[in-house]
Amino acid sequence: MSTATKGGDGKFRILGIETSCDETAAAIVADGADVVSSVVSSQVDLHARFGGVVPEIASRAHVELLTPVVARCLVEAGLEGNQLDAVAATVGPGLAGALLVGVSTAKALSLVWGVPFVAVNHMEAHLYACFLEDPALEPPLLVLLVSGGHTMLVAMDGHGQYRLIGTTVDDAVGEAFDKVARFLGLGYPGGPAIDRLAIVGDPDAVPLPRPMPAGFDFSLSGLKTAVIRYVKAHPDVATADVAASFQKAAVEMLVDKARRAAAETGAKTLCLGGGVAANSLLRERILDVCEEDGLQAFLPSREMCTDNAAMVAAAAWWRYRSDGPSPLDIGVDPNLRLA
Ligand code: KG4
Ligand code: ZN
Repeated sequence: MSTATKGGDGKFRILGIETSCDETAAAIVADGADVVSSVVSSQVDLHARFGGVVPEIASRAHVELLTPVVARCLVEAGLEGNQLDAVAATVGPGLAGALLVGVSTAKALSLVWGVPFVAVNHMEAHLYACFLEDPALEPPLLVLLVSGGHTMLVAMDGHGQYRLIGTTVDDAVGEAFDKVARFLGLGYPGGPAIDRLAIVGDPDAVPLPRPMPAGFDFSLSGLKTAVIRYVKAHPDVATADVAASFQKAAVEMLVDKARRAAAETGAKTLCLGGGVAANSLLRERILDVCEEDGLQAFLPSREMCTDNAAMVAAAAWWRYRSDGPSPLDIGVDPNLRLA
């Protein structure tokens, strides 16, 4: 594959496109590891006044933003489209209309440039952010994938081989951060707001439950409801104390399960992925327990945790190597599963 690349230097360059939610992103990655350029245009200002992502607004904004984002990505890379070797896009999971914008654009560009199209699973892309930043990383791994839509513990036995060890039975953890932040009047997106405010709060000020469903599943909605009940009963409580206490409880639930899953599955390496993996306390606690338990920890940089297209291009490289091009009649799948 590498000898006949369009750039003529043996490097296989993939343009990745990400439009599954409220970030419009494009990136060019060489050989699944070198980020040549990466552009992320956040729509957060458009959605903030509604307190969350409005799907129709997201789709329309992707339509307006994607062409300039791709153009800027090419300019920053100093490349023409016909010097690329493949075009990839997230086909799911995510918002149907938002996904369609990225997938249609990627297919059109692949036809115009005469290069393969590669369909990418958004959660697999979050996982491949780890490989992008540490090419020495090798499966088997245990991965904690935590985002606005998902909370999963996944055993990665090999490239493209996943086993779901645990998942949320109700809210995703990012969703719980966003809902609690909204209730506390901290705006959208809630995760970074809670992370920032928690620094000045007392994490032991508010007594909160840590619901633990059987096995390695998670439950976040009881914690969210407990926060709301407590604040309604104690209207004078300091918001920073609530933020810190909620964050501590949520992180403890995640870390406790991940740690036990690592012990039970015999995992030697624990990776984090997804937007919530940018959380300061989660990162700190994962590093602590991995050190205590003799596990290797891998945490992508914060900007690689939240939605971006470099992770899409990296995942596409591995997918393309194993499966080849995706058919052009492949559709979007808002509920696409990883395992
Ligand atoms: O992966 P992502 O960018 O988009 C999805 O695939 O959902 O994750 C977004 C989620 C949001 O719920 C956001 O509040 C949360 O990640 N998030 C955080 C932090 N940064 C983003 N949650 C906690 N602490 C953070 N620092
Ligand atoms: Zn994501």
